[in-house]
Amino acid sequence: MRTHFCGLVDETLIGQTVTLAGWTDVARNQGGVCFIDLRDHEGIVQVTVELDNAQVFAIAASLGYEDVLQVEGVVRARHAVNDRLRTGKVEVIASAITVLNKAAPLPFHAHENPGEETRLKYRYLDLRRPQMQRMQRTRIRLVQALRRYLDARGFQDIETPILTKATPEGARDFLVPARMHPGEFYALPQSPQLFKQILMVAGFDRYYQIARCFRDEALRADRQLEFTQLDMEFAFVGERDVQDFVEQMIRAIFAEVIDVELAAPFPRMSWAEAMRRYGSDKPDLRIDLELVDVAELVKDCGFAVFTAAAHDAEGRVAALRIPGGASLSRKQIDEYAAHAAKYGSKGLAYIKLSEAGEVASPIAKFFAQERLAALIAHVGAGNGDIVFFGAGGYNTVCDFMGAVRLKAGKDFGLVSDGWRPLWVTDFPMFEWDEQAQRFVALHHPFTAPAVDDIAQLRAHARTAVSRGYDMVLNGNEIGGGSIRIHRPDMQSAVFELLGIGQQEARAKFGFLLDALNYGAPPHGGIAFGIDRIAALMAGTDSIRDVIPFPKTTGAQDLMTDAPSPIPDEQLAELHVQVRGGEK
Ligand code: AMO
Ligand code: AMP
Repeated sequence: MRTHFCGLVDETLIGQTVTLAGWTDVARNQGGVCFIDLRDHEGIVQVTVELDNAQVFAIAASLGYEDVLQVEGVVRARHAVNDRLRTGKVEVIASAITVLNKAAPLPFHAHENPGEETRLKYRYLDLRRPQMQRMQRTRIRLVQALRRYLDARGFQDIETPILTKATPEGARDFLVPARMHPGEFYALPQSPQLFKQILMVAGFDRYYQIARCFRDEALRADRQLEFTQLDMEFAFVGERDVQDFVEQMIRAIFAEVIDVELAAPFPRMSWAEAMRRYGSDKPDLRIDLELVDVAELVKDCGFAVFTAAAHDAEGRVAALRIPGGASLSRKQIDEYAAHAAKYGSKGLAYIKLSEAGEVASPIAKFFAQERLAALIAHVGAGNGDIVFFGAGGYNTVCDFMGAVRLKAGKDFGLVSDGWRPLWVTDFPMFEWDEQAQRFVALHHPFTAPAVDDIAQLRAHARTAVSRGYDMVLNGNEIGGGSIRIHRPDMQSAVFELLGIGQQEARAKFGFLLDALNYGAPPHGGIAFGIDRIAALMAGTDSIRDVIPFPKTTGAQDLMTDAPSPIPDEQLAELHVQVRGGEK
């Protein structure tokens, strides 16, 4: 159908006859001459139709946006060179145009940016837009580069099942009814975690997979129900082996795909330090603002919220100074409080220091003058600044003050350019779930504790540290992994600490416990979020932009209209009955 791609027609072809195929990006009838911007996946070339070719001119004059054409013509040097096009030095003088398919009037035009709902409903039109094509290609190049890197280093690409048994990563499972086993269900994998561990037991030594994962959890800009991991596992390694290998890999891939040199080596920070200084386990180091602990200075002020938190061993009172923040109006301060509330705060106290040095604060009344001055001095605030305060449980304060820090960083233009990678290490092994009154695993239940001794782990479960690690880039958790438990007694002990009894452990993870019994090597690994890395590389805030067919935040695919109801007879075949809740 064609001899060349539109976007690649250049001066070397001048004088030659070419046949092109593509879409009508735009057609302009200027009376004596018609110009068509003909577009394919490589780019745009100008097709020129002159009036003396009456039959072809008539076709050109009738074209609408996105009509699909085949064009034959001679390549000619262009008088007015268009520097914005790769093909801008030439044009194609059409001798024949065939309309392969007319396009109906479009819901939106390629050069517009309609709302995301419209874009997702007509995703094929959205994906035609050059910026979307660019972003998909960044992702494709990322995956190619990763595969090349790992293939060259002895990693084996092994597929693991999609219809499987639940592998918990902290989200709800997607379930698939098993027609041949009434009342039973497959679970879609939240990750290939257990299979990759079993592959190490099976002697494959180095594994990777570009793996689809499924998690039924609340959607956000950086989360989808199904997403893609670069999943990796290594036998006979400690954490530094894994970290050093993948750090070099990530550095090489950023250099190759987007020509960015990341710091060598990546800085490292313990989870505790990250929480204390940035209120986050994935701090954005591009923002040069830090939380300051002030419990000592407020522990006997008159404000009960502060004193209670200051005296609570599991409490925290933290301050955040925002230089120039005194410019915030009352309404804007309320917006900060509302933002903090989304992350669990019950209030957001502040001290505003005007340029003239006047104090405006709902909590000043609780402090003697010199105490207030000491507090302001401790956080390093000066005239023109605002200081926000958070008080409450340690993790809650970290969460909402961390969120306030990010918002302030963006609002005040304090996010510096560039790339700030970071390893976060020494995570707590367990988190106490107040509601359920039990421990939950901070990484996943297969992560090894730093102590190798079961009695010690039991005795100090609350403060136990794991051998897990996350890779963070510009405030995004792009990868997470750990050294695994490879002894069945330790794995059973951890299940027990997590409130998973022996029977339940057997039923859910019997195969793992068995495998660990038959000569499991020490092993560990990591998984990277391909969507998140692609989004960072493509310079977009939303992973939806680098997923060809994503779900909305309402968990729907607007193009196919999934999910959708299933006819009764099909449900019957699956032995499934819907219990209320139908639309
Ligand atoms: P984890 O749950 O940390 O670890 O996932 C690894 C990485 O996957 C990405 N990610 C997501 N991306 C988009 N949407 C989601 N809903 C989503 N959830 C996670 C993140 C994250 O860092 N089995 C372990 C890995 C291991 O221990 O080796 C695991 O899945 O970038
Ligand atoms: P109140 O006396 O309840 O009006 O609170 C005085 C100030 O303290 C208000 O600005 C509240 O937003 C703030 N505040 C209330 N609870 C907290 C909290 N847990 N952490 C930080 N500030 C709070």
